[in-house]
Amino acid sequence: MSTSVIVPAAGSGVRLGENRPKAFVDVGGRSILWHTVFAICEYSADDWFDLDRIIVVVPADLMVAARHEAQSAADNAGRGTEVVVVPGGAERSDSVRAGLAQATGEYVLVHDAARTFTPAAVFERVVGALLEGHPVVVPGLPVVDTLKRVDQGGRVVQTVDRSVLRAIQTPQGFTADALARAYADAGDTATDDAGLAERAGLPVQVVEGDPLAFKITKQWDLRLARTISEGRD
Ligand code: C5P
Repeated sequence: MSTSVIVPAAGSGVRLGENRPKAFVDVGGRSILWHTVFAICEYSADDWFDLDRIIVVVPADLMVAARHEAQSAADNAGRGTEVVVVPGGAERSDSVRAGLAQATGEYVLVHDAARTFTPAAVFERVVGALLEGHPVVVPGLPVVDTLKRVDQGGRVVQTVDRSVLRAIQTPQGFTADALARAYADAGDTATDDAGLAERAGLPVQVVEGDPLAFKITKQWDLRLARTISEGRD
């Protein structure tokens, strides 16, 4: 299966508070972007998974640094994978749209740079469901906390049935046609790509995610990522 992987990494990282874009924050001596590209290249070691290219989307002023990080990761993984770097946009979906313009192959995976430790098994489940014929596949986890809907004053309006909810992660997998359809409406934005696919009327299949595919968003997540990295050395 010939596949491109788009890695949106153009977020500002304001919630992380590290005074630099999140993808360039250090975890165990390497940037978050480096770890993520390395993991993708490692996964693509399976012969049947034909990784066309990795498209990294970053802030326009960090394209040179991003190319260096991503190429270093690909070289370290020893796969000779082609890395393309493009400038992102104001919203995540603008960044993915910019990446999509460079995508080649039958399938496209979109994988947040900030989900640094996503296990290969999650990629495998997403890709496996694509090969079974699902046009859009997302990894998801059951929600463990009780969820309540509240009003603006913080008063509980309703307790939500969590058994029908899933917390959705990446990589999200698409046939090239499905992702193009999802992004056909140029003005649309969403917090994930499958959200746009849903709006375009496409069926979205959930496969099992993994707690290790957490998104480094706040300081707590960064501490967790650094602890995991130390444990691997
Ligand atoms: O903001 P959020 O945590 O949902 O971002 C998820 C991923 O999307 C991150 O890897 C981030 O760098 C990326 N992103 C982007 N362009 C934006 C905003 C976020 O590529 N404008």
